[in-house]
Amino acid sequence: MDIFHIEGPVRLSGSITVNGSKNASLPIMAATILASGKSILSAVPHLSDISVCSQLLGELGCKVSRNNNGDLCIDSTVIDNPVGDYEIVRRMRASICILGPLLARCGRAEVSMPGGCTIGYRPIDIHIRGLRELGAKIHIENGYIVAEAKNGLTGKDVFMGGPFGSTVLGTANVLMAATLAKGKTIIESAACEPEISDLANCLNKMGAKITGIGSPRLVIEGVKQLYPVEYEVIPDRVEAGTFMVAAAITAGQLQLNNCRLEDMMAVVDKLRSIGVTVEPADDGCIVARNGPLKPADITTQPYPGFPTDLQAQFMALLSLTEGNSIIIEKIFPDRFMHVAELNRMAANLRKEGPTVIVAGVKKLIAAPVMASDLRASAALVLAGLAAEGTTTVNRVYHIDRGYERIEERLNPVGAKITRESM
Ligand code: EPU
Repeated sequence: MDIFHIEGPVRLSGSITVNGSKNASLPIMAATILASGKSILSAVPHLSDISVCSQLLGELGCKVSRNNNGDLCIDSTVIDNPVGDYEIVRRMRASICILGPLLARCGRAEVSMPGGCTIGYRPIDIHIRGLRELGAKIHIENGYIVAEAKNGLTGKDVFMGGPFGSTVLGTANVLMAATLAKGKTIIESAACEPEISDLANCLNKMGAKITGIGSPRLVIEGVKQLYPVEYEVIPDRVEAGTFMVAAAITAGQLQLNNCRLEDMMAVVDKLRSIGVTVEPADDGCIVARNGPLKPADITTQPYPGFPTDLQAQFMALLSLTEGNSIIIEKIFPDRFMHVAELNRMAANLRKEGPTVIVAGVKKLIAAPVMASDLRASAALVLAGLAAEGTTTVNRVYHIDRGYERIEERLNPVGAKITRESM
């Protein structure tokens, strides 16, 4: 239960290298289940969610370790316990993405049904529907999803759309399962997020036959076998976006290395309309703000729309504009735990259903605040950089799930964050 003490306001200046993507790494780690042997994944960040996923794979029978240069080695020669235990799944919902690969490899899987989540209701009905379309028999027993496909899976046309658009991990599950199914699968309304494209590229490197990558129509020709892989995951666009907001909220300038602007067009477009400059540089970009911030309206959407994973961080930024902004959350309508905490820092936010009206204030003022989920906590750190005084952020473990020692990344460029270990 570490605590951050953040002294503000500061002006950030310098360069930061963006890490590999958490949300690309997790399904790619699960994909190694599909091939017997030793895979080596590079650029997998050192995060608590990655440790939980490693532990999960270990429980299945895999051997997971880091080699000397930090690459993640997963030996999936033996998978003798195709069970995703409640004690692990309850710590990380993304554990659900072992369901599809386990079913394809072992013909059977039992994965604890994910429970409640601080960012709102998160059903997995579309995952289950998609796997059933491929021929799996699935029922819920003692809180576990029990899935069977004794004679293997069979390719089919599968529609993956839901009330909030596509599903990222649902697409990952069905895509992974389909690689080893008999015949052809077409996933319609597939998620187009770069993390899904990264997974599909990795699967192709393992021997899968996937086309339509990056589009909402993935076509998968089933193959008999996949092979272990050496693969480097893409940079984390959410981490990059968080650092972009850090530059903007502190009226600073940051060069971000290892950042793929092409994955972030909606974010870059919004930053520019707010009055922040974003210029491409060698391996990334330079983000700077010299003048006042302008208000903006943001609606979160599936990719390539504005990502829900940056909604909280942009709310912190828009709190300091001259004027009113509107933020509408269309992916997770209850993902607003940060609103009350930002108001404790003298922001002026009013929530109306899935919408927050942001009335700009001249300054934020430090306060003790509580981290509630990963991205909400990042928003509080950003607010703390700009606020007057010392902000105390409790429950920093939420941030550690998705940002590797964020204080050690931000302090060299001018932040004043100390971690108190409790
Ligand atoms: N949904 C359904 N039924 C399903 C699955 C999803 O109705 O079976 C709904 C969800 O309730 C939500 C929407 O569809 O309204 C989209 O959810 P999605 O399934 O795409 O979310 P996810 O795959 O569980 C991933 C990321 C999240 C990110 C979302 C949306 C990982 C490990 N997680 O979750 O990342 O917010 O996609 O982009 O990739 C984070 O990193 O902080 C995080 C929460």
